[in-house]
Amino acid sequence: AFDIGKLRDQTGYVTLDSGYKNTGATKSAITFLDGEEGILRYRGYPIEQLAEKSSFLEVAYLLIYGALPTQAELDHFSGQITKHTLVHEDMRKIFDGFPSATHPMAILSSLICALTGFYPQSVSPDLSPEEMELNIIRLLAKMPTIAAWTYKNNMGHPLNYPRNDMDYCANFLYMMFSFPTEKYEINPVVVSALNKLLILHADHEQNCSTSTVRLVGSANASLYGSVSAGINALWGPLHGGANQEVIEMLEAIEADGGDTSKFINKAKDKNDPFRLMGFGHRVYKNFDPRAKIIKVAADEVLQALGMQDSPLLKIAQELEQAALTDQYFIERKLYPNVDFYSGIIYKALGIPTEMFTVMFALGRLPGWIAQWKEMRENKEPIGRPRQIYTGELERDYQGIEAR
Ligand code: ACO
Repeated sequence: AFDIGKLRDQTGYVTLDSGYKNTGATKSAITFLDGEEGILRYRGYPIEQLAEKSSFLEVAYLLIYGALPTQAELDHFSGQITKHTLVHEDMRKIFDGFPSATHPMAILSSLICALTGFYPQSVSPDLSPEEMELNIIRLLAKMPTIAAWTYKNNMGHPLNYPRNDMDYCANFLYMMFSFPTEKYEINPVVVSALNKLLILHADHEQNCSTSTVRLVGSANASLYGSVSAGINALWGPLHGGANQEVIEMLEAIEADGGDTSKFINKAKDKNDPFRLMGFGHRVYKNFDPRAKIIKVAADEVLQALGMQDSPLLKIAQELEQAALTDQYFIERKLYPNVDFYSGIIYKALGIPTEMFTVMFALGRLPGWIAQWKEMRENKEPIGRPRQIYTGELERDYQGIEAR
């Protein structure tokens, strides 16, 4: 039997905080988040201002280097990224090995890790600042190419090479949606919505995937290996996978006849594992400031694309209204999170459902990089949580015939 007294004698006291609900793993100067007040700031700048006025690459620079760039710095940064958008031709062969039904997140994490094979010096624990910089630029530059190729590969379409005359978001959309057989028109409404979505996802302090990136990186693992691990964490349905689950849930409600109250009741039933996807957040207990911005953006995008009568948007609005006035959700402080509306925008932009979490990864990349770099520069010790042991204390081995 478990003897806590004996255990204490052996190991001393250990703080148990399952899910790290109140345990800080690091000091960080990147993102400030106040869940009670619904405040999110990157390097001190309010998310509302950045979403309205900035561009994704400018925000990436801010997160990674700590200050907004001058024009010359931004030109240099984006110029460098543009220069590295191509991926090694041998990487195309890796796509051929995946069954066509492979989830794009599996391909993305595999190919990001595979970058270590193409840039072997990236695994060195003693990177010079220049080498670190080059790895960062490469990753930011190649991720959209790899992400778009996961989709093209799954569809059986020819893969598009990056267009270096286009900006970051426009180039990604081009690689996703253009065909060699027809001219592709970039829609500025779509580019601007994508910029906003990526900015809103760019960092969120020590969430599950970012903590994973830092934890893996704390063993002196490479940037590519650490980010690959973060992509896998993000894929989980309780984290980034929720945006895909939201749309699937809205579609299921529509297919079921559109009765939102039936699903609200299911979510409240403790014997039913169903949860309202896109509701609730570990740290935001009043509202998610990103959800506020994204809700307005969803309305604008759907208007601009003539899709304001989308049945899914109507179901989403009904669910939100019902939940905001229902005692169960009020008591537990369950509000729509960023994923609730991001899926609706992605769908309106023509991005297929299984690519939603890839889009999240594209947005979160600067945050992962900034956090990995900060961890390295601060020379943080290897992450190694403790445990409270609850198993047998000591047993003698018995031969198989005696068991
Ligand atoms: N639907 C119904 N009930 C819920 C929901 C939900 N979406 N979320 C939480 N609850 C209930 C729980 O059942 C629990 O009820 P109880 O106190 O009666 O047992 C209470 O609210 C607290 O929930 P916890 O799971 O303890 O909250 P936690 O902070 O651990 O989880 C999480 C947060 C994972 C986001 C959760 O709210 C959830 O599963 N939401 C749906 C998935 C989702 O949208 N994830 C995206 C998160 S945002 C992001 O990653 C960008």
